[in-house]
Amino acid sequence: MRWTIDQTVTSRARFSSRSAFATLTLILALSILSACHPKGLPDSASPAAQTYVARCGQCHAPYNPNELTAAMWDTQVTMMEVKIQNAGLPPLSADDRETILDYLKHNAGSQ
Ligand code: HEC
Repeated sequence: MRWTIDQTVTSRARFSSRSAFATLTLILALSILSACHPKGLPDSASPAAQTYVARCGQCHAPYNPNELTAAMWDTQVTMMEVKIQNAGLPPLSADDRETILDYLKHNAGSQ
């Protein structure tokens, strides 16, 4: 990823126009985002992903939804509700549960 940093520095020197620089910055930002995507969570900026991280990232890093199938997520979330209760954390609200399961299943793996 080092080349993107060098690229930014040389572009800044070569383009004096503000909009050309803004466009370039956007392109760079997008290419960095897409290059990093496989490591991150899908739609990581969405409210559903944030609910997921907030509720399911407290004890361990949030697992990528594609690591389990939709059916496995059903079971897993139920099992995690027991952990949440045993840890004395507030239970998932019906809304949070639905949001999290929708998010996980929508991005679930196929096997
Ligand atoms: C209170 C702490 C806690 C919270 C909150 C929590 N987990 Fe876990 N999770 C654990 C522990 C501890 C394990 C280790 C496996 C075990 O003991 O069953 C685990 C394991 C997992 C695993 C791996 C299972 C495997 O077989 O490798 C997944 C997937 C997972 N959690 C998903 C979730 C999801 C989804 C949520 C949110 C609904 C969540 N976790 C919230 C404690 C938690």
